[in-house]
Amino acid sequence: MSQQPIVLFDSGVGGTSILKEIVERLPHEDFIYLADSKNAPYGERTPQEILDLSIKNTDFALGLDAKLIVVACNTATTNAISYLRTHYKLPFIGIEPAIKPAALHSEVKRIGVLATKGTLSSALFKQTSEVFAQGVNVVEVTGKGIVEAVEGGWTSDQHFMEHLKTQVQAFIEEDIDYLVLGCTHYPYIIPQLKQLLPEHVKIIDSGRAVAKQTEAVLEENKLRNSSLKPGKVELYTNADNVFHLKHLIKAIPNARVLRKVF
Ligand code: SIN
Repeated sequence: MSQQPIVLFDSGVGGTSILKEIVERLPHEDFIYLADSKNAPYGERTPQEILDLSIKNTDFALGLDAKLIVVACNTATTNAISYLRTHYKLPFIGIEPAIKPAALHSEVKRIGVLATKGTLSSALFKQTSEVFAQGVNVVEVTGKGIVEAVEGGWTSDQHFMEHLKTQVQAFIEEDIDYLVLGCTHYPYIIPQLKQLLPEHVKIIDSGRAVAKQTEAVLEENKLRNSSLKPGKVELYTNADNVFHLKHLIKAIPNARVLRKVF
């Protein structure tokens, strides 16, 4: 049993889509979320830069006495999780695109994956796709400008919708029936995607599966917090503007946003 916090990090505000699911499942745990918005988007960076940023965030999390780290960013997971698991002693949870359930349930055997360049070009993504999507046509689209729009809070703008429309065109042409969101920022554009895609297309993100896995890993390592009080949820951001982050997490009871240098 441990009262230390669970720390999540992401290239910015997107990983709060994961934080919400985990807080709901584990309400007695303390959480610290690191929004590295200053360095977003990670998806356009080189593998070495993504690894360096992931190490920086991990070292900061260790300074906060983390008992478990959730790498709440697909791009950081695909590029850095093996390194982090080898070089640090605490458990890490990563976010992998939900290709397996999509491939399993697809009736037409054509699924789409929307993710960043950094994720789609990684070895881990290629392996996952090869293993879990055998016999399935995987239509990959690199999301452009989506992370920036979620970070900036302009996903409802008309020009963003037009921009997104061109990006989902390949999914419509290939007639997929499942769309996997391979970036933790993307759950924030599900309403827009639903408007643009045919009604029968099901959209899957990884939030619930990650929350379930976090609980299992805490159990396995005997790291659960035995407190019966609601846990603390703090979000550290290195962005100048905290308004948007505050808005995104307003559904999490008692969550506080603090500006920090990391
Ligand atoms: C990014 O910073 O480019 C996206 C983060 C992610 O892949 O979840």
